[in-house]
Amino acid sequence: MLAGLAAAALPGRGELVIADVFARQSTSLNGPWHAIVDPYDTGYFDYRHHPYDEAATITGGFALDRVSTNRSELIEYNFDTSPTLSVPGDWNSQNDRLFYFEGSVWYRTRFDLPQSGAARRFFVYFGAANYEAEVYLNGRKLGRHIGGFTPFAYEITGLARASGNSLVVRVNNCRHAEGVPTINTDWWNYGGLTRDVLLVEEPETFIANFRIRLKPGTTNVIQARVQLDGPARDQRIKIALPSLKLAAAAAAGADGLAECEFPAPNLPLWSPEAPVLNRVEISAGADEVTDRVGFRTIETRGRDILLNGHKIFLRGVSVHEENPLRGGRAWSEADARLLLGWAKELGCNFVRLAHYPHNEHMARLADEMGILCWEEIPVYWTIQWNNPETLDNAQRQLADLIARDQNRASVVVWSVANETPVGEARTKFLRSLVEEARFLDGTRLVSAAMEVRTDPADACHKIVDDPFGEFTDLCSFNEYTGWYDGLPDKIDHLKWTIKYDKPVVVSEFGADAKEGFHADALTRFSEEYQADVYRRTLPMLAQIPGFSGCTPWILCDFRSPRRLLPGIQDDWNIKGLVSRRGDKKMAFQVLKDYYGSLPGWSPK
Ligand code: GCU
Repeated sequence: MLAGLAAAALPGRGELVIADVFARQSTSLNGPWHAIVDPYDTGYFDYRHHPYDEAATITGGFALDRVSTNRSELIEYNFDTSPTLSVPGDWNSQNDRLFYFEGSVWYRTRFDLPQSGAARRFFVYFGAANYEAEVYLNGRKLGRHIGGFTPFAYEITGLARASGNSLVVRVNNCRHAEGVPTINTDWWNYGGLTRDVLLVEEPETFIANFRIRLKPGTTNVIQARVQLDGPARDQRIKIALPSLKLAAAAAAGADGLAECEFPAPNLPLWSPEAPVLNRVEISAGADEVTDRVGFRTIETRGRDILLNGHKIFLRGVSVHEENPLRGGRAWSEADARLLLGWAKELGCNFVRLAHYPHNEHMARLADEMGILCWEEIPVYWTIQWNNPETLDNAQRQLADLIARDQNRASVVVWSVANETPVGEARTKFLRSLVEEARFLDGTRLVSAAMEVRTDPADACHKIVDDPFGEFTDLCSFNEYTGWYDGLPDKIDHLKWTIKYDKPVVVSEFGADAKEGFHADALTRFSEEYQADVYRRTLPMLAQIPGFSGCTPWILCDFRSPRRLLPGIQDDWNIKGLVSRRGDKKMAFQVLKDYYGSLPGWSPK
């Protein structure tokens, strides 16, 4: 795999990266799919617990999508008469009986191939499936994907028939100690085909992936890399930016990779104030893809973050990929617009998309709305640092995220972890992720949400000296004084020792508040308590040298299986500034006023 551009077929996985999928010729397979809830994985294992798809020819199980053809034939499942689940969507919020369900659910849809004259290739594309998915077409296994938040695709050319194709997916959301994330998280373990499913149609040789950006160190040279896939991949590619009257061409090598650089004088740069996106047209042979791309630079200098060479303060908020009003996984552009709309209302120019890759609509909409993004992979809390499969899993999720969002101007930070315990094996694990991120994309900042330790001799003395901080571009940490540590007044007395001469971006702070519960500011779960934590924390953080931004925890209340206080939490983490009903809590205004008071803020 050449640095920064995943080739079409990923080694050993049969999976493909198809970038910019929404701009391609495709048929949506979204909608109601028949579904079988399979708590004992009866559809996957025989009674000896051997997988039916162990052999090349599948011998049994639901992958075959059979129906009995005569009154004597014994088949004990039937997709046609099974209920349906909506795709995209998690199953937990669609059916009360599946609210807590962790296990396998089988999805099945049928489709015909679009009739087209020319020789075409066909792919099935999944935006995501949580947590692992086995995919079958017409009773044949296409592949297995692990990781609940990254896209994957399989080629079905030659496997699909003209009509009546059976696409069956076994989705299993069981948690695993060796998984990424591992068994313990503070978010709901939504299962299902949680994002768009598409039937993608391409010419024999097509543009599988591309990266277009500013040449590092410049603001007036565009650098492009295009990966072709197919029999005629050693051909010329053309790149055009019509609105900028720019065009270039390059020859792809035998590996289908073409690279070029071309001058772009007076290029309008993308920024939150001016989120300029440029139409990009890339063509090769019979294929053409288009995208809308912004050009900007992001870097650090000492304790400052520079966007396009200018110092910037990141007025942020953390966001989970959940639509609180629906109480389920967010997946659509409308969901993204709801969440980013609230962030804009707060006066944000930055969001931390926690703790896993969100759907593609988020970063694309952030491009349009002028909101910078921190994207993260779910290396969360205590995972198996010494397990090579766990590392491989984390590296793949990072590579898939970068391959999907590398052309998004809004994305400025790759985060490789959250609140992981200091330790040699852990730091080594995280360092390899930092190296991978820099190898695949050396133009963005790399960070992680670290933890703060307290001076044993002085409870008000906070120390940030996690050895992993040496390898990141930002010094980011989560800080919960006033909620998990002491009462709000303690915040006023904090002193900080920060080992690193880097921009400080505080990745979390906050407190729980039950919407509409009002009391004095010392009453836990009251809006007053939460507002008081914000009112004290913001000026306190502003005293920290190099304080360059923050993403308070969190924009909206979100479901969590760890929040069980009856009548107050009821399976929700209520640290949101917006409640599950979409109402703003008092602290929303506190943060909005603070961001509005900062130099450089504009109402736009
Ligand atoms: C942690 C963690 C979040 C969690 C939050 C909380 O810091 O990173 O995932 O939800 O704290 O306790 O509310």
